[in-house]
Amino acid sequence: MTTNEQPRTQWLGRWGFVLAATGSAVGLGNIWKFPYITGEYGGGAFVLVYLACILAVGVPVMMTEIALGRRGRGSPIDAIRRVTSESGSSSAWSLLGWMAMLAGFMILSFYVVVAGWSFSYLWKMLSGGLAGSSVEEMAAIFGANNESPLNLGFWSTLVTVATMVIVGKGVQAGIEKSVSWMMPGMVMMLLVLIGYGMFSGGFGEAVHFLFSFDVGSLSSEGMLAALGHAFFTLSLASGAILTYGSYLPARASIARTTLSVALADTLVALMAGLAIFPVIFANGMSPASGPGLIFMSLPLAFQAMPLGTLFGILFFIMLSMAALTSSISMVEATVSWLTDNKGISRRTASWGTGIVLWLVSTLAMLSFNVGADWTLAGKHFFDWLDYLTSRLMMPLGGLGMVLLAGFVLKSETFREELGLSAGWYALWLFMVRYVSPLGILVIFVDALGITRVVLAQHWPWLLAVLVVITVVGELASPRLRRVLSP
Ligand code: PFF
Repeated sequence: MTTNEQPRTQWLGRWGFVLAATGSAVGLGNIWKFPYITGEYGGGAFVLVYLACILAVGVPVMMTEIALGRRGRGSPIDAIRRVTSESGSSSAWSLLGWMAMLAGFMILSFYVVVAGWSFSYLWKMLSGGLAGSSVEEMAAIFGANNESPLNLGFWSTLVTVATMVIVGKGVQAGIEKSVSWMMPGMVMMLLVLIGYGMFSGGFGEAVHFLFSFDVGSLSSEGMLAALGHAFFTLSLASGAILTYGSYLPARASIARTTLSVALADTLVALMAGLAIFPVIFANGMSPASGPGLIFMSLPLAFQAMPLGTLFGILFFIMLSMAALTSSISMVEATVSWLTDNKGISRRTASWGTGIVLWLVSTLAMLSFNVGADWTLAGKHFFDWLDYLTSRLMMPLGGLGMVLLAGFVLKSETFREELGLSAGWYALWLFMVRYVSPLGILVIFVDALGITRVVLAQHWPWLLAVLVVITVVGELASPRLRRVLSP
């Protein structure tokens, strides 16, 4: 049912893909980024939009990507090229694959810096460097950790090397093996921290902050951030999931695996929020403390707990591992493309990619010290990598994928790959044709400041328009297909 001629590596175990994709999805995005951007954008309303984006956009896009990967059995570029050629559509769509691969690479360039923080905090925990510090001292320690390019560079280089070693080892021995024991450990640690949070005095406030939805409090910028984060946290439109999908055995159910990954990812993010915000509120810290949020708050919790140092060590081991199982997925697309197209070994491809990555990530790392003044429109290189990928490339890439799936490719492709009953298939099609693209577009346009008022005042009309677009779209779709794929 797939188009490949040569056998492609496949996941070994029944759970191989789910574990690897969950390993990719669950990472710094859940434990580091979700809490701090939730803090920055004001809490509950942001969480609500984020959850809506996961359901309405994330899940359909993930199913599409896995199906494209499995059907095309290759890196994003090759897979899309094969699938479009099978459908007789334009190979220009493989540009989406290029953009995804580039996004994965750009994300990794700043991700290794944050993962480096995690490794350095593990070291601080082991060496007792955080013991007895006050709230202010924790903030100072975070600042000092960033000040030396040699220190920060050492840790991010370590992460880069570790990533490339695992990827160089291959899909089964490297990736599949490392994720199978790490995910359960992570969840246990979060449960312990939530348990602590319940007695810290800030739990009620944290729950209120995360789950009281005052939608009016959310800015357009916040909605775009929520959409971008839905892509980021599920590893979408950045090559990872599509490439992992290319190793998925033909018999596995794409819908079921997608739902497991999305659910696990969402639960871990919410758990991280419930673990972190009680400490923040109990210690009078600001939820909007930015990227240093977890590094300044969690060590406080650990030092107040019985056996705190031990838990702290375990936590940072888990966080570092969660970061690694994500970082390996970000380069898999590039490495797979290089080995399939350039006739080089996986090892050479990994190290070659690693060297370029090291150069770019070093520039990102310098944003925190010697390059503190190198800004463009008020953003450092580190921030630009994050901003461009989350706010632009991933939503646009996702939009491209759903349009490709919904209007361009032959419907048999997805009927066969998804293997859904007629009703579920129709629901998926409705989502990728209308709900996901319109959701992405509305948030984009809203970020330009146009639709907010219109939405609030005229939603019944907009709903009617959506219905009309759906009907017209359905009637016109063969024609649309011709227009979009010359
Ligand atoms: N999903 C990862 C996280 O939440 O930490 C980040 C990520 C992994 C983004 C892989 C993109 C990617 F391709």
